[in-house]
Amino acid sequence: MTPVLTVIETQERLSVQDLVAERDLTRGDIELIFRLAERMKSSPGSFARALAGKQLAMIFEKPSLRTRVAFEVGMTSLGGHAVYLDHTKPRLGERESIKDVAKNLDRWVHGIVARTFSHSSVIELAEYASIPVINALTDLLHPCQALADFFTLEEKFGRLRGLEVAFVGDGNNVCHSLTVVAAKLGVSMRVATPAGFDPKPEIVAEAEACARDTGARLQFFRDPAEAVAGAHAVYTDVWASMGQEYAAHLRAQVFAPYRVTEELMSDAAPDAVFMHCLPAHRGQEVTDAVIDSPRSIVYDQAENRLHVQKALLMLLLQN
Ligand code: CP
Ligand code: NVA
Repeated sequence: MTPVLTVIETQERLSVQDLVAERDLTRGDIELIFRLAERMKSSPGSFARALAGKQLAMIFEKPSLRTRVAFEVGMTSLGGHAVYLDHTKPRLGERESIKDVAKNLDRWVHGIVARTFSHSSVIELAEYASIPVINALTDLLHPCQALADFFTLEEKFGRLRGLEVAFVGDGNNVCHSLTVVAAKLGVSMRVATPAGFDPKPEIVAEAEACARDTGARLQFFRDPAEAVAGAHAVYTDVWASMGQEYAAHLRAQVFAPYRVTEELMSDAAPDAVFMHCLPAHRGQEVTDAVIDSPRSIVYDQAENRLHVQKALLMLLLQN
């Protein structure tokens, strides 16, 4: 029978108290998260009491399926409890200051997960809360997603070094987080975006600084076929992110040449996988034929959100 673990056996801890931006994580932090996630995935019962008595507050200004369920189910399966705070209306900071929200939650719970429009809201929560704060997506970044995605790639290919990931579409929050985590892990990124929708220069500069240390190659293209040529993974995301729905019609015209089709996938490496953070707008950024093909690993990515987020919770919330 597998022994029940109530504490992490090693004294290893993350170098950060919060996960606001992947920039703050060291390579060692990411490896620690991945190794723990691997153990949690293969032996979930061993961690059943790891967060017994711990409470998590989950603030969401935007909708969520994967992030919310993975955190809530993850917390329960570690013996803890999660409270969902619907902040779609009013948004965080509208009914009372973010500082007061942080200082109240501090008194009741052991950690905060927050999905907000403005990235500065998560920064402010982390500044005023003495408990760990985890970024569950902002307009700028989606670190939990990128961590789960590279965990999934390592699982599929048995390695990360030497892989080339193509991201095709909008230079958005998911693209930002993938690019920085790739650079930290020594994975090369080939990003194709239409003019006017490039990743933010400050995020690219951050990723380039990390890439100098790891040797990751970061390349930026207009032509999706050029980005995808020979890549081990082809990744796309919606053309209009949450909060940009008003511009969806215009964006659909701009992004039409960036749709991931079987033809585009045929430019990738023979064993290339297709990736998407989901939710997908089928028929827009990806065809049914690609997302439903044997190359698609989108549901593995979704499953691994659970294992990686459980590892994060355990590393951040255990004393
Ligand atoms: N990929 C992702 O974060 O999904 P949700 O928006 O459903 O949480
Ligand atoms: N870029 C998307 C990701 C959803 C998980 C959005 O922000 O809506």
